[in-house]
Amino acid sequence: LAPISITTLAAMKARREPIVCLTCYDAAFARLLERAGVEVLLVGDSLGMVLQGHDTTLPVTVEQLAYHSACVARGRRRALLIADMPFLSYATPERALAAAGQLMQQGGAQMVKLEGGAAVLETVRRLVSQGVPVCGHLGLLPQSIHRLGGYRYQGRDHTSADAIRHDALALQEAGAGLLVLECVPAALAQEISLMLEIPVIGIGAGVETDGQVLVLYDMLGLNPGTPPRFSRDFLVGQDGVPAALAAYVQAVKTRAFPAAEQTQW
Ligand code: KIV
Ligand code: NA
Repeated sequence: LAPISITTLAAMKARREPIVCLTCYDAAFARLLERAGVEVLLVGDSLGMVLQGHDTTLPVTVEQLAYHSACVARGRRRALLIADMPFLSYATPERALAAAGQLMQQGGAQMVKLEGGAAVLETVRRLVSQGVPVCGHLGLLPQSIHRLGGYRYQGRDHTSADAIRHDALALQEAGAGLLVLECVPAALAQEISLMLEIPVIGIGAGVETDGQVLVLYDMLGLNPGTPPRFSRDFLVGQDGVPAALAAYVQAVKTRAFPAAEQTQW
């Protein structure tokens, strides 16, 4: 099977085949995820919370993301590898170019993801002009948690929904090749997915996006405490991790996940 590229993902969107993505932080899981049919591996800064035990993603560094990305890169062969740009690493286009260089050259990432809209457009243009594929991230922005005041759904009123629509178009215009929409109402996510040419990957964004992503440790029930309501423990009722991953892939491909109980309207 040919390696999955951003072109592959665009073709999947065109034929309305859901794109399956999970976060991944090491080589062992990279192999298991790929074997299960996961098409996109995201080395998310969520590793600050699930691996490092922090309350937020803010303490994660470029070095740490490059390290985990390199681990994942050694385990992958076919899946597209995306690495998060951590908090403040893209505060200026120059810093962003340096950070993306580390993630791609040392970490083996094939695309980088950064959070925000209007504030990052110039940076996105600069990265893309230098050959760095960029994934946007709108809706709930975990790196802005101290400004937002909590992990809550975004885009629930007209003003904020309009801002997200506008930012989504602007990111596409700036050259982003992919967009993650986190915790926005399903109708808004559907509208944006139809409006954009680039694929939209949702988390807590309903079933009508072009693909789905979850935090690996949430969907394997490895995150004790209250799991986010948009996630599901896929290990329940399965006889092991490979079966749980296969169940997730199957549920995303058939649009059985997210179901109504994981959806915010
Ligand atoms: O860091 C992360 O895991 C993410 C996904 C939840 C989209 O950004
Ligand atoms: Na992230």
